[in-house]
Amino acid sequence: MKKVLVTGASGQLGQCFKKKMDHVPNLEFTFTTADELDLTLFGLVDTYIKDHNFDYCINCAAYTNVEQAETSREMAFLINSEAVRNLAQACAENNTCLIHFSTDYVFDGKKDAPYSEEDETNPINVYGSSKLSGEHYIQQKMEKYFIFRTSWLYSDIGHNFFNTILKKAKPGAVFNITTAQKGTPTNAYDLAEYVLRMISSEVEEKHFGIYHYSNLGEATWYDFAQEILQLSGKQDEVKLIKNNDFETVAERPVNSVLSKEKALSTFSEEIPHWKESLAQLFKNGIS
Ligand SMILES: NC(=O)c1ccc[n+]([C@@H]2O[C@H](COP(=O)([O-])OP(=O)(O)OC[C@H]3O[C@@H](n4cnc5c(N)ncnc54)[C@H](OP(=O)(O)O)[C@@H]3O)[C@@H](O)[C@H]2O)c1
Repeated sequence: MKKVLVTGASGQLGQCFKKKMDHVPNLEFTFTTADELDLTLFGLVDTYIKDHNFDYCINCAAYTNVEQAETSREMAFLINSEAVRNLAQACAENNTCLIHFSTDYVFDGKKDAPYSEEDETNPINVYGSSKLSGEHYIQQKMEKYFIFRTSWLYSDIGHNFFNTILKKAKPGAVFNITTAQKGTPTNAYDLAEYVLRMISSEVEEKHFGIYHYSNLGEATWYDFAQEILQLSGKQDEVKLIKNNDFETVAERPVNSVLSKEKALSTFSEEIPHWKESLAQLFKNGIS
């Protein structure tokens, strides 16, 4: 039985791991929230990892408020960079494989094609810079790691675009949604399932490294909103307007579609198309 620690367990992705854990009988899980294991405290993290002898640590903790990060730079770096350094150091010292999540926002969005793992990073906002700094610490301190860069994460849990659209889709509502950014919505349950399948089979050392994981296909935020409204049957109750000029505090990459070729050719798991996966979430029932 492999021992798995999931940190940042009360967040969106952490809770998806919790809901999916019964699908993998050969793993023994421990879930810790920020209150139970604050990753910014190196002594605490180091002792905890040392005491429990985990095979894997799946780090779902992060500072994810992209807008607020612009004015809370220190906090974003504390959680997305310094805390990741702590975890990487503790995992490396205790032979624990770290599975960490990063973001499409490490890229500047100027490429006119999907981004591969080899492409040059150049974050254009504080969140992206802080996440990239976390990646660098892992690469400096560890050999046994997987970093999954993902994008536009959503589920029926927590604060995300999907939940916001559904919550605000009341009769007469007007949505102004941008068409100026292209990326791929990613169902957080798919990502959790993908990682769990990967570690419940034999992980080969030659596979450690950075991977891109989002659902397949591409969309603008407008496309994503349109599909959510259609699948929820609310498309006739609200007015959806294309907006090319949406103002945000943090600059966002115009194109942040991630190429999944490396993951597809390395692991034998399929990756669903974003539309198919969104429909599946409705079929499974929104909690
Ligand atoms: N959401 C997206 O669209 C998106 C896109 C690309 C990549 N990602 C990456 O995917 C991963 C999962 O994101 P998510 O959407 O699940 O994020 P989330 O819902 O914001 O969850 C983050 C979790 O981290 C916890 N946390 C914060 N500071 C901590 C600390 N010092 N020690 C321990 N835990 C701490 C938070 O706890 P509290 O709530 O108690 O503060 C929260 O439960 C992150 O690495 C994120 O950067 C997300």
